[in-house]
Amino acid sequence: MRPGQKGRLAILISGRGSNLQAFIEACASGQLAAEICVVISNNPAATGLDRAAAAGIPTRCIDHRDFPSREAFDAALAREVALWRADLVILAGFMRILTPVFIQPLAGRLLNVHPSLLPKYPGLQTHQRALDAGDQEAGVTVHFVTLELDGGPPIIQARVPIIPGDTAESLAARVIVQEHVIYPLAAQWHIAGRLQLTEQGACLDGKPLPATGIDYRQEVA
Ligand code: GAR
Repeated sequence: MRPGQKGRLAILISGRGSNLQAFIEACASGQLAAEICVVISNNPAATGLDRAAAAGIPTRCIDHRDFPSREAFDAALAREVALWRADLVILAGFMRILTPVFIQPLAGRLLNVHPSLLPKYPGLQTHQRALDAGDQEAGVTVHFVTLELDGGPPIIQARVPIIPGDTAESLAARVIVQEHVIYPLAAQWHIAGRLQLTEQGACLDGKPLPATGIDYRQEVA
C-alpha cells in the first residue's frame, strides 16, 4: 500500500455486528485509515447487514446452508473476498469454523476477535466458562487466524474484572466494550504495515509479541 492510501477491509459477520459498528466508526473518525469495501454474512438474518447498509457499505450474503460441505462454502467465500481485493479480512463475530481452503490464501491477512483471554476458553460459551471456573478476570483477544481454532498468535488482549453476581450476559457486556477498542486498534497496526505474522508468531514493529499478545493496559498507540 502506498503512503497515505487507505487500506481495504472485508468484514465477515454472522449476527449483531457491534464490532462491525466499531469499525465503521473508527473508519469515519480517521482512527482507522481504511475503508470497509464489503460486509459478508453467512446468515441472511444477521442484523449487522443492516448496519452496513445504513453506512452505505456493499453487503453480500453467502448462506452456508446452500453448500454441501464446509470446503464448498469456504471456496465460495474465498472467491467473494478475492473479488474485493481486501488488504485485511476481519472476522467480527463470524460464527463458522473455517477450513484451510479459506484460511491458507489469507495467511497473515486474516484477524479474529475472541471473547476470552486466549489460550483460555477457545470455542463457545466463553463467559460462562470463566464464571464456572471461578476466574477473577475475563477479557478478549484479537489474534491472527491460523488453522488451529482460536489458536493463532495473539496480537492484543484487554482484561476486565469479574464482579460478584456477574452473569454471562453482564460479563459479555463488559467485555464487548473492550472488543470495540482493541480490534480497530490492531487493524490499524496492520494497515500501517506495523503488524506481521511470522514464523515466530505475531510481530509488531519487527519485534515478536508476547505469547498472549500486547496487554492493552500497557499499550501505547
Ligand atoms: C463478539 O463478542 C465476538 O468476540 C464473538 O462474537 C461476538 C460478536 O458480536 N466472537 C466469537 O465468539 C468468535 N469465536 P458482534 O456481532 O456484536 O460483533
